Amino acid sequence: MRTMKLGTSNLEVPVIAVGCMRINSLEKNEAERFVQSALDAGANFFDHADIYGGGKCEEIFSEAIHMNDDIREKIILQSKCGIRKGMFDFSKEHILESVDNILKRLKTDYLDILLLHRPDALVEPEEVAEAFDLLESTGKVRHFGVSNQTPMQIQLLKKSVKQPLVANQLQLSITNSTMISNGMNVNMLNESAVNRDSNVLDFCRLNDITIQPWSPFQYGFFEGVFLGNEKFPELNLKIDEIAAKYEVSNTTIAIAWLLRHPARMQPVTGTTTIERLMDCCKAADVHLTRQEWYEIYRAAGNVLP
Ligand SMILES: NC(=O)c1ccc[n+]([C@@H]2O[C@H](COP(=O)([O-])OP(=O)(O)OC[C@H]3O[C@@H](n4cnc5c(N)ncnc54)[C@H](OP(=O)(O)O)[C@@H]3O)[C@@H](O)[C@H]2O)c1
Repeated sequence: MRTMKLGTSNLEVPVIAVGCMRINSLEKNEAERFVQSALDAGANFFDHADIYGGGKCEEIFSEAIHMNDDIREKIILQSKCGIRKGMFDFSKEHILESVDNILKRLKTDYLDILLLHRPDALVEPEEVAEAFDLLESTGKVRHFGVSNQTPMQIQLLKKSVKQPLVANQLQLSITNSTMISNGMNVNMLNESAVNRDSNVLDFCRLNDITIQPWSPFQYGFFEGVFLGNEKFPELNLKIDEIAAKYEVSNTTIAIAWLLRHPARMQPVTGTTTIERLMDCCKAADVHLTRQEWYEIYRAAGNVLP
């Protein structure tokens, strides 16, 4: 598996992250085979969150991988906190308590990366900084990042937080690419010009923050998978044509499209099917041409100005 450095850190990570939000749909033996297959393919970066399956996904994972010191050294674990029932919570107390619970469920004494899951309107950056300092000094967390945050929210955090923020996990797929579109429709009156994210893509590139696209196969907000979906006939025709050229599946091409962007993104897959995960991993070796990348972009309904 091709690797890269995460953000400004020295942590070498595979370019594909294995998302574990849905692994609670697997039986114990299926989960074991799934994580083992990921490891065999070099996909040793696992993305979690305390809320996935209400904590069950982290538990199922640590059992499936038969967590011990030896295996722990071979994998990279990322988890997230900050979402609670009916609210977001970046208070020091909640961050510290969440990490302790995550570590217990994952049966480990450290996380490689902790992300703040979704912006908290009541965030107090000084409190986040205190929590991060404690987590770092006690060895419980090695690197820190955010998810779903705008450039200004990141700047606000950085006023107090001294650790580099190495990743920003954001919704991004071929059919959810407004952060790419608005950069090509500057100051125009069309829908694509609407800047919904305050130029987060350029900001992350400028600051070497790795973008981790989540839901790389979904359209809308978990509305379904665009691949093979009759709602996207032109897009599927184009993806299938390019897939045939590279002798790979449509799944591989959907991930290769994200990897082709020079921002050096790390897509987070959500499949629980081994075959699909292997197809996602194959994307690390497919380099789409500029023309193919734009053809897919246009086939998704995007009009170039
Ligand atoms: N930071 C955030 O706010 C946030 C939000 C959501 C998710 N995430 C992270 O992102 C990861 C991915 O999210 P996601 O699960 O919504 O992403 P996804 O990869 O877009 O969707 C995966 C789902 O699509 C299904 N699927 C059907 N056909 C598929 C195909 N051809 N290729 C791939 N999948 C296909 C999968 O089913 P099968 O399992 O049967 O393949 C699975 O149910 C999560 O695991 C989580 O780690 C983060």
